[in-house]
Amino acid sequence: MTAYKIHEHQYDMIVVGAGGAGLRATFGLAEKGFNTACVTKVFPTRSHTVAAQGGIAGALGNMGEDDWRYHFYDTVKGSDWLGDQDAIAYMCKEAIPAIIELEHYGVPFSRTEDGRIYQRPFGGMTTRFGEGPPAQRTAAAADRTGHAMLHTLYQQSLAHDARFFVEYFALDLIMDEEGACRGVLTLDMATGELHLFRAQGVVLATGGYGRAYFSCTSAHTCTGDGGGMALRAGLALQDMEFVQFHPTGIYGAGCLITEGVRGEGGILRNASGERFMERYAPSVKDLAPRDMVSRSMTIEIREGRGCGPLKDHIMLDLTHLGAEVINERLPGISETAKIFAGVDTTREPIPVLPTVHYNMGGIPTNYHGEVVQLRDGNPDAVVPGLYAIGEAGCVSVHGANRLGSNSLLDLVVFGRAVAHRCAETLKPNARHKPLPASACDQALANLDHLRHAKGELRTADIRLDMQRTMQNDAAVFRTAETLQEGVTNIGRVYDSFEQVNVSDRSLIWNSDLIETMELQNLLGQAVVTMVCAENRKESRGAHAREDFTERDDVNWHKHTLCWIDDKGQTRIDYRPVHMYTGTDEVDPVPPKARVY
Ligand code: FUM
Repeated sequence: MTAYKIHEHQYDMIVVGAGGAGLRATFGLAEKGFNTACVTKVFPTRSHTVAAQGGIAGALGNMGEDDWRYHFYDTVKGSDWLGDQDAIAYMCKEAIPAIIELEHYGVPFSRTEDGRIYQRPFGGMTTRFGEGPPAQRTAAAADRTGHAMLHTLYQQSLAHDARFFVEYFALDLIMDEEGACRGVLTLDMATGELHLFRAQGVVLATGGYGRAYFSCTSAHTCTGDGGGMALRAGLALQDMEFVQFHPTGIYGAGCLITEGVRGEGGILRNASGERFMERYAPSVKDLAPRDMVSRSMTIEIREGRGCGPLKDHIMLDLTHLGAEVINERLPGISETAKIFAGVDTTREPIPVLPTVHYNMGGIPTNYHGEVVQLRDGNPDAVVPGLYAIGEAGCVSVHGANRLGSNSLLDLVVFGRAVAHRCAETLKPNARHKPLPASACDQALANLDHLRHAKGELRTADIRLDMQRTMQNDAAVFRTAETLQEGVTNIGRVYDSFEQVNVSDRSLIWNSDLIETMELQNLLGQAVVTMVCAENRKESRGAHAREDFTERDDVNWHKHTLCWIDDKGQTRIDYRPVHMYTGTDEVDPVPPKARVY
């Protein structure tokens, strides 16, 4: 093996990833006095949070009656009762100060006539514990809320004393013999030099793994690098079978058209112009949660009521909203629709199709952001020194189905929570324990192996094979047949990675090597997703099985945990769902039928 020189750094805390969650954690930690560095593979303001459109949920009550307990109820029901209710209560209550804080940091929210933050309706958000009218709960900056938030959070990070290492790719976690995380090994992509960041704690804020699928709203950078590193470190991921399809990706291109369009009054129509959601969700119609809308659209298409010559998509009609509302509230999607669908939204509907958007599963954590694992019978055993937040984590506030606009919320609430937790449990400038000389050996062996891989398959071909397999076999609707076939197919793709070829052997701006390492991260999670989906014999949230059409709380009201070894062999176990709220301000919501 090549000998690699490693530059060593010591910080109190290292945050990997500079999206909304990573930045909120970075300056939160710096603010609490921790010597903090953020390591990121893209420039912070290019992180995928920039693409978030519709808004951030929080019961501010600016546009009508609301209460964080209603938000709590909706999120539990939206999760199809798989969400941990203590984490959900924490998130919904903290949403209010977290959004006000964003306003004070400078996020340019849209405003009401009287100057308050503008809030729009979003799917599954109701009032009076589901009995009242839809809630206007999603705080928005037109349809560019993620962009506005990300830039503000980056400005705040610069205002605090945090160090950024930009275009550094995280290779692997450095774990010690006791199972604690002690740092992360990274590659500076510009110089090709290796940097070991030692720290009291590593916060994974690396986003989701949407790019395991062929058609997704996620950026090309969404390769689940944190989840990949966690799997290689021998940790289990949680609830990976739950993959969210956003109902309105542009047909063909996959770009996101915000749910905010339906929040503003947009309507989904089939080939005969029918507002078909009235049949599937009579009370909330187009503002049903995403899993239901995606399934309803798929049924319309399957039953021959799809639009276009191939009857293979649905139309999103916002023409009746008028140019003024469209230009003021939805300028971003109007531009996207023009570029990617050739549509003028004031005159024509947008052709749309359910498109992979979000991973409910991820690295299991408690609501402080601490990574937890099942150890010696304890399902909540904390992994010392390791934290996961945002889409990389599974806290689990979204359970089996996330409500739109709860993601921007989870980024800031749990980014903030990590900083609070570290202030309670760690001391700035504490001494670092020595690391054994062999600490980086495994990570270096993996890097060296991939860098010199001389197989017969191109990275791009293996990636396409994986993406097509996931798209076909772990889709909106699933059956034993597609899933068993999927397990075999994705296993074959995983094994084919042995034959990968990396043609560029250098370390400087070697995009061939970086994409290969990203593919390795994706592949582990793709296998785990498929295996967990095959294993769960019920329908819950985004996991819709045609052979087990009902939710089965007797056998399946539990979180899945899944490990994978370096041969691609998986192991499954379970954690109980937290059915307590951790506060006497709100009672747990027991499972019941999920109708809208
Ligand atoms: O539709 C949207 O604007 C997406 C929001 C979300 O995923 O939370």
